[in-house]
This record gives sequence, C-alpha cells and structure tokens, in this order.
Amino acid sequence: MVDIQGGSSAADNAAARLRGGGVAVLPTETVYGLFGRTDDAGALEQIYALKDRPRDNPLIAHVLDVQMARSLTSTWPSAADAMCRRFWPGPLTIVVPRAPEVLDRAVAGLSTIAIRSPHHPVVRRVLEAVGHPLSAPSANRSGMVSPTCVEHVACDFAGVPEAADLLVLDGGPCQTGLESTVIDLTGDLPRLLRAGSISTEAIEEVLLGGVRDDLPTTQGASPGTRRRHYATTTPLRLVDCDDLEDALSGERPICVIGPSWLAVAPPHRHLIMPDTHQAAARSLFGLLREADATDATQIIVVRPPLDSEWRAIHDRLERAAC
Ligand code: TXA
Ligand code: MG
Repeated sequence: MVDIQGGSSAADNAAARLRGGGVAVLPTETVYGLFGRTDDAGALEQIYALKDRPRDNPLIAHVLDVQMARSLTSTWPSAADAMCRRFWPGPLTIVVPRAPEVLDRAVAGLSTIAIRSPHHPVVRRVLEAVGHPLSAPSANRSGMVSPTCVEHVACDFAGVPEAADLLVLDGGPCQTGLESTVIDLTGDLPRLLRAGSISTEAIEEVLLGGVRDDLPTTQGASPGTRRRHYATTTPLRLVDCDDLEDALSGERPICVIGPSWLAVAPPHRHLIMPDTHQAAARSLFGLLREADATDATQIIVVRPPLDSEWRAIHDRLERAAC
C-alpha cells in the first residue's frame, strides 16, 4: 500500500525525502506527478523504474519561478519571458535549450529541457522547502490514464512491490484535470507539442505571431506523444451522437460516456460527461477509469463538441481510442 498523507507536516516529510534523493507523489493543478530531484540520477532512475516508463521519454522539470528555470537552460528565448509572465505559475510547459550540467537522465539525452512552474500550493511548498528543480512525469504506470486524485495513484501502484512505501500527498482532486500544454520554443516558430487547457489562440495572443500546432503523433518531436497513450484496458471507441443507437444494438454490455440527456438502456451503462469543457476536462480521466472498472466489454465516448475549447479533450480521447 502507498502511504497517503495530508496537511503541512506531509509536505515537510515529502521535502525531506526528496532532499535525500527519494521520490514522492505530489498534487499539481493538472494531474498528480511522481517527483524527484532533477539533479539526482538515483531519484530519476527510481521514477523510470516505478512507472515502467520507456527510457527515451524525457521528464518535465518543475520550478518555482523563472530564475530557477533559467538555472536549467543554456539560452533563454525572449518568447519564454513573455510566455512565463503570462502563464506561470500554471499549466504551461516550455521546451528550451538545456544547460550542459543538466543530467542526461533528466532529459533522456536530449539537447532541450521541458520546464513548468506549477500553481498548486502543495507542490509549490515542497519546491520551496527543497530549493531545487524537481522532475516529474504524471504519477500513473506508463501508458495508462493520468491520475487526478490520490485514489487513482493508489490504484495504479497497488500491485507494484517497489511502491510499497511510496509517499503520496493528498491535495484533493486536480482542478484542471488534463496534463499541461507543452510548447517548444527552440525553433524559428514556436510549436505546440501537446494540447492542454492553455489554447493555441491564447499563446498566439502573447507571442503576437504564428504557432505551429500540427500536433506530433510520432515519437520524433516529443516522445510522450505516441498515438495510443492514454489507454484504458477496455477497448474505447469514439462515436458520433447520431450513430449511438446503432452502436448499442448488440447484447454485450457497453459503458457509454456522454451528455446527461442520452437515453441508454440496460444492459448498457451511462456515465455523464459534463457539458462545459472545463468540467469535462476535470472529470475526463476519472470517467475513463470508472468506465474501465465496469464489466462492460467496450467503452463508447460520444464525440464531444468540435469547438476549439474542447481540443485537448479530443486529443486525449483520440489517443485512448483503438
Ligand atoms: O501537467 C503536466 O505536464 C504533468 C504534471 C505532473 O506536471 N506532467 C506530465 O508529465 O504530464 P509526462 O511525463 O506525463 O508528460 C511530459 C511530456 C511528454 O509528452 C514528454 O515527451 C514531453 O512532455 N517532453 C518532456 N521533455 C521534453 C523535451 N525536452 N522535448 C520535447 N518533449 C518533451
Ligand atoms: Mg504522462
């Protein structure tokens, strides 16, 4: 069993473990992360082992502020200043050239580093106490859905012997619910690598110019953006509302995730997708986990609205679909 703790003494316990080269799961406003010191090869090694994460998939370094971010970089593009002033602390990750002293293990050997300054008070408190950047992937086993509450983390690591004494800080349910927007600032034109709650339009307003936002689906540009990534164990399909009736005509139980007004009769089940994009983002990963835990042989998600605010949700659903 993982060790779930709350309150201010828990943050001090986590800081002590991290200072000493250990790891801890901390809440952020996006999803829970599995944290270790960016400058500690042993801690980074533990993160990869606990997650069973491919070694070629680099980590995001989390910092308190721009000053701490710059300690990890060799050059600081002017676009980074504008982006950080507008969006930090918050769910925006920038990719910039790394400093030579950054450990290869922290960036999977790349010449760049992904950095973000989280907003959640618990992770900020721990960052302050440790005084060093902390690297973290989402605190799920590799390839699975990101965790947005401590129960998700406990469930994912329940069968992992090495996680028996894993410290997990309870910061409540994550307010954003989707992983951060990732933008690469190393090229001529800023390039969106992962959609998140901060939209391309909001970024373009700050940068006063174009952003490449043809999201990568291959491993080249951003190793964590492989196509099937946010997977449920039960096969998942995205279906247009008009096609739902046909899709439910069989005998085998299907779990439908869709708006409250759908008519779904037994043996099928219905989980409600909230109708604002913010609430849907907050609930999405919990709904996917809940659907996966039913006896359904298939999960059907009714395709959400096509408006640009729903883009990050579409992105995660398309990656989860088979
Ligand atoms: O909201 C978030 O970003 C959460 C919380 C914990 O901060 N973290 C998170 O980490 O989602 P992870 O490891 O699950 O996703 C990090 C993404 C991956 O797609 C990875 O390939 C990409 O960032 N990434 C990291 N470093 C990179 C780099 N130097 N260049 C390009 N992509 C990078
Ligand atoms: Mg992840």
